[in-house]
Amino acid sequence: MEIQLSNRVQEVLGIQYPIVQAAMNWITDANFVASVSNAGGMGVIGPNAGPVEDTDLSSTGKLRNEIRKIKDLTDKPFALNTFFPPDGDVETENYSLKLLNVAFEEGVKYFVAVGSINKRLIKAIKNQGAILIVRELTPTVEGAKLAESLGADILIATGYDEGGWIPQKAIGTFSIVSTIVDAVNIPVLATGGINDIRAVRAAFALGAEGVYVGTRFIVSEECPAADETKQDIIKSTGTDLILVSNTQRSTPNHFAKTLEKMRQNGSTSDEIDSLIAQSGGLLPGMRKGNSHEGIVSVNTAIDRIKEIKSVQQIVDELMKDFK
Ligand SMILES: Cc1cc2nc3c(=O)[nH]c(=O)nc-3n(C[C@H](O)[C@H](O)[C@H](O)COP(=O)(O)O)c2cc1C
Repeated sequence: MEIQLSNRVQEVLGIQYPIVQAAMNWITDANFVASVSNAGGMGVIGPNAGPVEDTDLSSTGKLRNEIRKIKDLTDKPFALNTFFPPDGDVETENYSLKLLNVAFEEGVKYFVAVGSINKRLIKAIKNQGAILIVRELTPTVEGAKLAESLGADILIATGYDEGGWIPQKAIGTFSIVSTIVDAVNIPVLATGGINDIRAVRAAFALGAEGVYVGTRFIVSEECPAADETKQDIIKSTGTDLILVSNTQRSTPNHFAKTLEKMRQNGSTSDEIDSLIAQSGGLLPGMRKGNSHEGIVSVNTAIDRIKEIKSVQQIVDELMKDFK
């Protein structure tokens, strides 16, 4: 397969290589995001980014601080992750808008919207003349077409292989990418299990024009995940992973094994998800390295991850064909 050195993703996002770092709750900060952008990809600042202990700052104050720090560290494009609830969930829309307004004031020009296809929030972003990447949590042809018709610039096709909140249909990356590519005319990023150059090549063979990479970047020097968490990912294998609920998987740490037993004893998927949320979501397991109180959420391709590397090394390896 011939790889084009430049494509629409690079052009629309103004980046050197068609790689976007995925949004990840609690484990992004200014240094990590800027290092991805400085390496030639696009960094994305995720929810709860920045310091963990900043209790004196509101969520908007914390976000503003982190955006300003990114701007000090890079003059390259970076994006903000924003959550899109279903149309009509006004309370959540208002919360997302509050954070979006901070980003607009700070001059952020790129957004990765995740969740449902929300008309009001798409309009708010497009009215700013900003670039919008849309990721439906469970990708559908209808959602992809709707997002395109409402002005989305790029779509993300998420496979069941991904880390984080997994799609509600067990359709792997190999299947979903071409389905979404065939449904729309705008460029598509592939995501889910892309941890080495072979997976990048596969994504392009399926019609993607870029990759959206989460798990591989966790095991980087710059990612603020705990060192214990990074080591846990290196030593775990794909077949070890535990599907703790219908939406979350984890390395087989102490907490995940406890949840697995609870599930076998009759706890529902929703009960397990709320227990994880009560325990602090991804904060304890991912950021603090506390394997007794949190899961370690990763993709199914972790066998490819053998060592901690710098963000630059990871980008260079995954983007070797584009040099
Ligand atoms: C630890 C972790 C936390 C995540 N948190 C978020 C999040 O807060 N918001 C979001 O839109 N996606 C989140 N995701 C999903 C990623 O943005 C992305 O879809 C996924 O990591 C890509 O798949 P990969 O892990 O196979 O590379 C998270 C993923 C991981 C691994």
